[in-house]
Amino acid sequence: MLKIPTMSAQEDNLKDIIGHAKEYGFVFPSSEIYDGLSATYDYGQLGAELKNNIKTYWWKAMVHMHENIVGIDAAIFMEPTTWKASGHVDAFNDPLIDNKDSKKRYRADVLIEDHIEKINQKNEKDVAKGKKRFGDDFDEKQFRETNPNILRRLKEIKAIESRMKDALDNEKLDDLKALIDELGIVCPVSGSKNWTEVKQFNLMFATELGSVSGESAKIYLRPETAQGIFVNFLNVQKSGRLKIPFGIAQIGKAFRNEIVARQFIFRMREFEQMEMQFFVRPGEEMKWYEYWKDFRINWHKALGFEEGSYRFHDHIKLAHYANAAADIEFKFPMGFKELEGIHSRTDFDLKQHEEYSGKKLRYFDPEINESYVPYVVETSIGLDRMFLAVLSESYKEETLEDGSTRTVLSIPPALAPYKVAVMPLTKKDGLPEKAREIIDELKIDFNCQYDEKDSIGKRYRRQDAIGTPYAVTVDHQTLEDNTVTIRDRDTMEQERVAISALHKIIDNKVSMRKLLMKEKVV
Ligand code: GAP
Repeated sequence: MLKIPTMSAQEDNLKDIIGHAKEYGFVFPSSEIYDGLSATYDYGQLGAELKNNIKTYWWKAMVHMHENIVGIDAAIFMEPTTWKASGHVDAFNDPLIDNKDSKKRYRADVLIEDHIEKINQKNEKDVAKGKKRFGDDFDEKQFRETNPNILRRLKEIKAIESRMKDALDNEKLDDLKALIDELGIVCPVSGSKNWTEVKQFNLMFATELGSVSGESAKIYLRPETAQGIFVNFLNVQKSGRLKIPFGIAQIGKAFRNEIVARQFIFRMREFEQMEMQFFVRPGEEMKWYEYWKDFRINWHKALGFEEGSYRFHDHIKLAHYANAAADIEFKFPMGFKELEGIHSRTDFDLKQHEEYSGKKLRYFDPEINESYVPYVVETSIGLDRMFLAVLSESYKEETLEDGSTRTVLSIPPALAPYKVAVMPLTKKDGLPEKAREIIDELKIDFNCQYDEKDSIGKRYRRQDAIGTPYAVTVDHQTLEDNTVTIRDRDTMEQERVAISALHKIIDNKVSMRKLLMKEKVV
């Protein structure tokens, strides 16, 4: 019988992943010796490698594989008018509410969404009960479409969602508060309904420039990398002699004072984005929007994760500057959530910067003999969310044929922190020296690990747990005939091969080339 994961099973899975990430040096809570800083994480020795490999995969696919895309690295601090022009000073807000008893602060919309999720869970429980009771005869679709309790709850959810949407869209903060009261939502900490009014709270972090205090010296930590691209649009176009359509890509830190920051590295206050703005002729944006939707989903799928791990969520209600927008959602341990956004942003940003800066941000198109403000299609993915997607999809606890268990990270080989571990069977008889000789040959092209501690079985398990695709063992026969055994992480099969063949075997498996060839969509 199909086992439906309950909320707590999903939470347990996330907890296991967080524990594993810490134990093996992928992700640590930041400044942990001082009990940490909430929603802030440090990437450890393996995390930094995995992150770099994800960045390389993105950069190669987006920049190197497109002759009309270039990459930049803009400063985090920007002239503060940038954020007035982009709309972030006035409109980058979250509606917040405090509980007077616990003194805890919440996002009003998240409290309501959590309430909706509880109603949803009741429906899932009823479905699970039906399955248990009727076994193979259970027609889930029909049950969902006809059961009166389920239908009543779905109606209730729709009504709540539509009221919340209306209140958020039209800034009716009183209505949000009224909804929280009417739904009887209690503070998860104090259990009370003693709420303050709902207030808007800007998500940008501000600091002061130099030693001068006061409004004029206030600057912001960028909440998205995109604006560093927009303000450099003409610099890059002119210095690179670029012709439309062309793109500017960037990887960098972004900061948001998220009030409800949770779910590990999914929602953080300091995170990294990989963004690309593609500048096109007005009127051609929908063609490019479809192109980038295709390209980006193929980039994800090339990694070979389970079919059904991704889905598109088209935005029905669009931001005022967009004429089309979709999210690529990924099946995280806590359910389908946004991993990446693809937005057709019209000429909104460049026009705003023209207005606020007084500088023309136009492109002369020699093909149509016209000067215009280009339209923009954006792809924007959170690097940390991509990291979590890779980690959670790769983390597996397997029961082997002999009944023993192993934890394995089946990270796509091109992204794995180490590509190969080289291990002498014993610490003597010249085996360590031979192992180091092999590493010296391989390390120019592959990140290698030397490991001589513990039994060979334990060493294999350790490499499985950090996702190393290959383990090479040096034994006494190696000294005689220059052969080694090579063990595959996924099949656990071992093969005896010549040392001289290692480079080709490893390269064949771990090279990014294959990924990049797979994901080509044009
Ligand atoms: N320039 C467009 C933009 O910033 P967004 O939807 O606000 O759009 C883009 O963010 C991506 O950045 C998201 O899809 C997500 O992957 C990532 N992201 C946003 N907020 C984040 C946070 N607090 N922590 C981690 N990643 C975040």
